[in-house]
Amino acid sequence: IEEDMSLPEAKKIKLDQTEGITLKKDGVVGTRVMVYGRAHTVRKQKDVFFIELKDGYGKMQCVLSGQLAKTFDAITLTRESSMMLKGTLCELPAGARAPLGRELQVDYFKLPKNGKAAGGDDAITTRVAHDTEQHILLDLRHLTLRGDNASQVMIVRDQVEWAFNTAFRELRFRKVSPPALVQTQVEGGATLFKFDYYGQESFLTQSSQLYLETCIPSMGDVYCIEKSFRAEKSLTRRHLSEYTHVEAELDFITFDDLLTHLEAIICRVIDLTLSDPTIAAHIERLNPGFTPPARPFLRMKYSDAIQWLIDHKIENEEGKPHEFGDDIAEAAERRMTDIINKPIFLTHFPVAIKAFYMQKDVEDLRVTESVDCLMPGVGEIVGGSMRIDDWEELMAAYKREGIDPAGYGWYTDQRKYGSSPHGGYGLGLERFLAWLCKLHTVREACLYPRYMGRCTP
Ligand code: 4AD
Repeated sequence: IEEDMSLPEAKKIKLDQTEGITLKKDGVVGTRVMVYGRAHTVRKQKDVFFIELKDGYGKMQCVLSGQLAKTFDAITLTRESSMMLKGTLCELPAGARAPLGRELQVDYFKLPKNGKAAGGDDAITTRVAHDTEQHILLDLRHLTLRGDNASQVMIVRDQVEWAFNTAFRELRFRKVSPPALVQTQVEGGATLFKFDYYGQESFLTQSSQLYLETCIPSMGDVYCIEKSFRAEKSLTRRHLSEYTHVEAELDFITFDDLLTHLEAIICRVIDLTLSDPTIAAHIERLNPGFTPPARPFLRMKYSDAIQWLIDHKIENEEGKPHEFGDDIAEAAERRMTDIINKPIFLTHFPVAIKAFYMQKDVEDLRVTESVDCLMPGVGEIVGGSMRIDDWEELMAAYKREGIDPAGYGWYTDQRKYGSSPHGGYGLGLERFLAWLCKLHTVREACLYPRYMGRCTP
């Protein structure tokens, strides 16, 4: 079928564009438009084809009728085929429903060379079906990413990253980009990915924190959004081998300032994320009834959490009542968070169960000025603390943790050249998204997740 060249020239638009477009109705001609995308669904009713086109920005119902519906390309059209269509946008017939309340009456369409998607046994709907097993869906991530759920999570993720960048900029933080290939540990040797760097033992970074600390004297408050790597040897709903770490470091603050800042940034990021109606609609679909958390967040000391767990008969990993000094395991933490059902700042963890760099609480030297932010459904999404700012204390901390200070001179030196009370935190972006979008696992928040046993596709 040839295009009717007597028709007005078509305006190229994205599928969510409404600006400058007039709909065709009684006596009104309507704007002729040109759209591109892939056939998300194809439905035939009598002699008419209804194609739901998607382009990553929106969806549009496109109607092929008359001679167009009799063409070879229409009759053999498969889902996920890519195509270009031209036509006029019309108001829907009474009672009909379609995205943005409009449909495209197509007057011309064309598939690009190679545009037709595989059909039959190889059709996307056969390879990615409702009963396809999880591990196969992950092998086929490049195809599952085309589905509504996966694509909406990725689109929300993009907005959340933008929101963090915007919120940090509003607060005058500067973004830096620390290295991923390092020779120092931050969060303990057990989860280090080691590799050979021109003959030297090196690691994939667990956290950019130590590098951020070196930036504050010259740049002020800083942040980064970089990958962190953990050789986690267990398969859980919230552990990845490679994750996106939003980290910040604040100069001349108190522990209380750190908590107040954390609350502010989390709430601002949520508000900015929801400020786009399309994103808000995706979140409502993924996590119906989501409402931003109220401030201030509940603040609970570790010692009070231990008492809470004892009172609620939630046992530790050995099946015994919790006691001071226990690392609160994932299951117990999750149960507590789900029962309390709102964000919690869990603070003042014992020195022995926390990282070497954490500042002790002067009022109780058994504990650190540390915080985990716990969210319902996920548990810990943020870990932060004040940092040791005294040279001798830091040297003692290396010794306690069995770390050779030799490789850490550049970090230790910060205590020699104008030390300051400072602190910061790291937020797991995938965990934040798991909470916001109510995902069963953090894997769903990754483009191509990496966890024990999976490094493909
Ligand atoms: O509590 P973590 O280990 O803290 C740090 O790495 C600090 N050095 C950060 C800092 O202060 N700059 O990790 C921080 C957050 C956790 O709360 C969690 O959200 C996320 O990083 N995280 C993981 N996310 C996915 N998979 C894993 N294996 C993760 N390990 C930590």
